[in-house]
Amino acid sequence: MKIAHISDTHFPHIIKESFDRTVEMINNSDVDFVIHTGDLVDRGYLREYEEAIKAFSMVKKPIIFVPGNHDGKNVGLKLFENLIGPLSGVKEGKDYVILYLNSVIPDMNEGRISNSSFLWLKEKLRKYIDKRIKIVSFHHHLVPVPNTGRERNVLFNSGDVIDILIKYGVNLVLSGHKHYPNIYQLEDLLIVNAGTMCSVKTRLGDKNSFNIIEIDDKIRVKTLRMDEIRERVYTRKKERIYNVESEKLFRIVQIAGTFIDETDIFNKKMFLNAFKKIEELNPDFIVHCGDIVNEGLIKNYALASKYFNLPIFFVPGPRDINYLGYNLFPKYFGLKERHITKKVAFKFLNSSQYDSDVGVVGRGQLNKIKQFSRNLSEFKIVVLHHNLLPIENTREKGLLEDAGDVLYELTRLKIDLVLTGHSSHPSARKIEDTLIVNANSLSCKKQRSLFGNSFNVIDVYKDFIYVSEIQSLSGSRHVLGIWKRK
Ligand SMILES: [Fe+2]
Ligand SMILES: [Fe+2]
Repeated sequence: MKIAHISDTHFPHIIKESFDRTVEMINNSDVDFVIHTGDLVDRGYLREYEEAIKAFSMVKKPIIFVPGNHDGKNVGLKLFENLIGPLSGVKEGKDYVILYLNSVIPDMNEGRISNSSFLWLKEKLRKYIDKRIKIVSFHHHLVPVPNTGRERNVLFNSGDVIDILIKYGVNLVLSGHKHYPNIYQLEDLLIVNAGTMCSVKTRLGDKNSFNIIEIDDKIRVKTLRMDEIRERVYTRKKERIYNVESEKLFRIVQIAGTFIDETDIFNKKMFLNAFKKIEELNPDFIVHCGDIVNEGLIKNYALASKYFNLPIFFVPGPRDINYLGYNLFPKYFGLKERHITKKVAFKFLNSSQYDSDVGVVGRGQLNKIKQFSRNLSEFKIVVLHHNLLPIENTREKGLLEDAGDVLYELTRLKIDLVLTGHSSHPSARKIEDTLIVNANSLSCKKQRSLFGNSFNVIDVYKDFIYVSEIQSLSGSRHVLGIWKRK
């Protein structure tokens, strides 16, 4: 099966040369159909829709149009439904299914898969579970995209969407919105963002582009830019791991969100039980991914310093540096930048800002990661508080401002492991060659996991990484996954 994936035409602000050339290439190709992932028009006006319809009548292949945020401006979604087609739907073939849906909140740039759309998607994924090829499409990007500035428009419930797409074995998700072509392999899910086909709104002086995607036993994504062609090939299923005999290199205990203070938001019993268990587990390293105290006050820091009597690496969360915390954190816990041995190297980042939940890594620290990645250690780990990938069971609001660029650099540099501690829910996902693990809150009464407060144990073997979550109160174990090392 072959698909042309186009996006973000933004009629009437088009570069005609790009539009005509793309249409010509599509008409002369052997693609089965075309999918347009939204922002067909710029302001949702009738005249824009009419112009777009006229222009697209030149395309000689069937087209699926998915609505974008620009199509939904000025009550544009009603025009979209009347003139273009339904906002969501199913295209089914003998061995494939394509589910497309609306992620637009009228007159907003942010996206969301509404409750009813989410249930619809789940129901359809269940119904078509046996299809060999499963494709899902919506306008907004699912994970942060590099080179597109401040991250703010990822779907509100991106974490939950990622979760079901992976659980139901979806092969491919197609989106647009950011006007910058990008591909990530997240577990077995290939996430493809298209650039803009013909709009003047490009980023970084980028050229207009579109994708040709060919799916058989492999997925081939060809990005055809107006000046060059880039191609990447992905295998569709990763190898399963059955036999886990390998030499163990080290064990990390990853904790976050202890929220120590004198109020009952800090669950002392939970904390003490968890630390008893941590001692029994005899880890080589303990890493605290931030929000050590509930508020950055002297009495909380003084209290916290009494609770930790094992060697721990700390990075600050926003809770730790509000009020006086900015000065207290280095005094009580130090601001360690890295820890490097032959076997393993850690790079610690401060992603937290004064009185703000929004995180940022910044160019200075990003450059230091590039330097750090050159060290000769066998296994490289980056630690920060804010999550880089959307996390299930949370409304996505904790992503770093510069998540797109940070995620891109960490995966490009093939950092083996990234540890984060925001959003109070555990998560472990491999994106490209990098495993990203988030820790739940260890002892804060406010947490989001049905399993309860917990911490993570990460066992690194020569050939694989084994991640599990340990419940703070009972010490029971829940496996988050096993991943093969490169
Ligand atoms: Fe757009
Ligand atoms: Fe958009």
